[in-house]
Amino acid sequence: MTEGIQRGEFGLIGYPVGHSLSPAIFQGAFREAGIEARYTVLPVSPSRLKKTVSALFARPVGGINVTVPHKTAIIPLLDGLETSALDVGAVNTVAVHGGISTGYNTDLTGFENSLTSLGVPELSGRSVLVLGAGGAARAVVVSVARKGAARVLIANRTHSKAVDLARSLAPRFPGVRLIPIPSDADNLARYLAGISLCVQATSLGLRPEDPLPVEPSLIPAGCYVYDLVYGPDDTAFVRKAATLGLTASDGREMLLRQAAGAFEIWFGREAPVAAMRESLDRAIRSGASGCSGGVPGA
Ligand code: ATR
Repeated sequence: MTEGIQRGEFGLIGYPVGHSLSPAIFQGAFREAGIEARYTVLPVSPSRLKKTVSALFARPVGGINVTVPHKTAIIPLLDGLETSALDVGAVNTVAVHGGISTGYNTDLTGFENSLTSLGVPELSGRSVLVLGAGGAARAVVVSVARKGAARVLIANRTHSKAVDLARSLAPRFPGVRLIPIPSDADNLARYLAGISLCVQATSLGLRPEDPLPVEPSLIPAGCYVYDLVYGPDDTAFVRKAATLGLTASDGREMLLRQAAGAFEIWFGREAPVAAMRESLDRAIRSGASGCSGGVPGA
């Protein structure tokens, strides 16, 4: 059952995980750092999660990444959680040391570090629009609140989830206005004046036929557009935003930075980010993994 990730080795569990770029990123990292290790993808259906995880921890493996749909389901199977996982309420990285398994969330630090490397302007006192209210959106809201944003607007197809997300985080960030807003274009437009960052954290854009998550012409000039989805080419949302003169990036940098965070947790040393970026770009260009796109952590 656990043949995919051996004792002392690393890998990703999720369902489905077939198109993950994580093996390419980590193999690039291991090569550059002179580490002899393997990183393997292991599809694990929800009904097999508990058994698989206990078998992996019994070996024990060196560490695992966790992606959809297991990021919260794995929590009760771990011995402990580090602050980042507690902050987001989800785990994307597990380290096993001395028989003790600890869950981390490097989507959070990955997102924060990607803001710096992309040159996104400081968020202190600013307004941010977050599209989506799932796991990725939650990490983004926590991150921009930690960075001192004054106002975070949350727009989601299912409005009640935006309300739940805002409510659940409000007590932790009393100085930040977390505001669920309507997601339909007519109503959304009224809220967007003055936003300095728009983060696209829904899964829209993964398929070519997807509609745009929001009409970019509604986004004010000077706002940075950050689409967490990535693919072989820029997403349609990024392309259209750029055409309108907005600065825009897709989700590669966050994918890279969350992987770098996991490397640093597992090996206790700085991740070889340049080599990891090269491996990621090469894998995306060549389509070697069959990757048609993805969302962070996958
Ligand atoms: P992740 O962990 O990647 O955030 P998730 O928790 O499943 O994944 O969240 C997916 C997000 O994409 C949700 O905000 C979802 O909206 P709903 O809460 O309404 O489901 C959003 N999403 C997915 N498909 C969508 C679509 N076709 N149109 C608009 N939003 C969509």
